[in-house]
Amino acid sequence: PRLVFVEHDGTVLEVDAREGESVMRAAQAAGVAGILGECGGCMSCLTCHCYVAPADMDKMPPPQAMERELLSAIVDVRENSRLSCQIVATADLEGARFDLPEWQG
Ligand code: FES
Repeated sequence: PRLVFVEHDGTVLEVDAREGESVMRAAQAAGVAGILGECGGCMSCLTCHCYVAPADMDKMPPPQAMERELLSAIVDVRENSRLSCQIVATADLEGARFDLPEWQG
């Protein structure tokens, strides 16, 4: 699926993700600066935090308990916050937009 990342400075990057990889991996591979993903996806770094465009939230399953708990530790958390390493790229995600926070890590 094609994913759209919007950096905090307004830069828009369109990325073709492979089905089955995480949104974090797809962003990393494409050099999206606002996603660090330092822990490689094991939910310990929180540097893959992103905001899912509200209209796109129903394109993916909601966060599980562990992710919700971790998200609550993020300073600039919002209702549409997600850890992008926990979102699996599927065809349903086509066109989904992810806004990146000002600060990561
Ligand atoms: Fe570390 Fe997502 S990559 S929590």
